[in-house]
Amino acid sequence: MEETQNVPPLTEAPTGVTPRHIAIVLDGNGRWAEQRGLPRTEGHLRGATPVKEIVEEAARLGVGRLTLYCFSSENWKRPQAEVDALMDLLKKYMIEQRPRLMEKQIRLRVVGRREGIPDETLAEMDETIRVTSSNTGMTLALAINYGSRAEIVDAVRRIVKELSNEKAHDKAFENAGASSVDELITERYFASHLYDPDAPDPDLFIRTGGERRLSNYLLWQLSYAELWFDDVLWPDFTKEKLWEAIRWFQTRRRRFGGLDK
Ligand code: IPE
Ligand code: MG
Repeated sequence: MEETQNVPPLTEAPTGVTPRHIAIVLDGNGRWAEQRGLPRTEGHLRGATPVKEIVEEAARLGVGRLTLYCFSSENWKRPQAEVDALMDLLKKYMIEQRPRLMEKQIRLRVVGRREGIPDETLAEMDETIRVTSSNTGMTLALAINYGSRAEIVDAVRRIVKELSNEKAHDKAFENAGASSVDELITERYFASHLYDPDAPDPDLFIRTGGERRLSNYLLWQLSYAELWFDDVLWPDFTKEKLWEAIRWFQTRRRRFGGLDK
């Protein structure tokens, strides 16, 4: 990880190729609070500030899609009070940020399973998705009750359901111009059954909070992403930190398994 060190602080936004899709694991809210003798939920509250800053800065830089890991399917294991606080925070975010998302022409999407999310959070989420759906700027995807293995399992379920319905079965073969299962079931066909099939794969993955792991995040989609890890705790993440990651991304030669020309 030597590239992440000794990088002078940036005072300007990076110029050069902007990643089309950035996927972030925002980690470290709990530790940020604990270090200050505050309850963990204070860390989550404080974590909303960089969320707003990074969403707007990514949109300003011309990023096409930003995916934020807000709540994983494993986060239900946390104490109920913390889960409730997170769900409440998400609900408030959906309400409070609506005008701002409209102003910045940001379209909201949510990826994950709906089961377990409180009705009032779902309602505000759906409303924000609805009102922002024809916005023409960046897509902000929030991963809520998201797990990548669950997403892959859900895709398989969708495929099996599709193929066990005669009409949908015939249509699938026809659309793909396929005459055998091997011809039909390609990577492209499989990916078209993921939660948000229109999303391009992330070019840049960022994880704050010091851990070097993927934590069941976008496993299919991250196949060729450049991985950037930052020790900073999420509430201390800033747009300068985002610039640093993008600047590093711009130095990478992406070969996608091929060779340099
Ligand atoms: C990330 O911070 C917040 C969530 C997306 C749930 P954590 O709550 O995981 O913070 P740490 O890792 O305990 O510091
Ligand atoms: Mg954590």
